[in-house]
Amino acid sequence: PFEVELARSGKTVSVSAERTVLEAVEDVGVRVLSSCRQGLCGTCETAVLSGEPEHRDAVLTGDDAGSTMMICVSRAAAGCDRLVLDL
Ligand code: FES
Repeated sequence: PFEVELARSGKTVSVSAERTVLEAVEDVGVRVLSSCRQGLCGTCETAVLSGEPEHRDAVLTGDDAGSTMMICVSRAAAGCDRLVLDL
């Protein structure tokens, strides 16, 4: 598991292996636009303020992947136990 801090909402959620970041965020009542939930459409793109995401989507490539992530599929990178998102 890893933690996700929602900077604008002032909340922190723990994301277990069975859940996505998107689901964990929705669980605490923060609404995020989403569509495909498979890392394909780019709707759930969220700015990453701190921490290192592991990109598992099919939208971001190379330089694009610097400061945002698709939270329906992407997670924290190995060795990163906390992401701070602009939510
Ligand atoms: Fe489509 Fe996340 S909802 S990429």
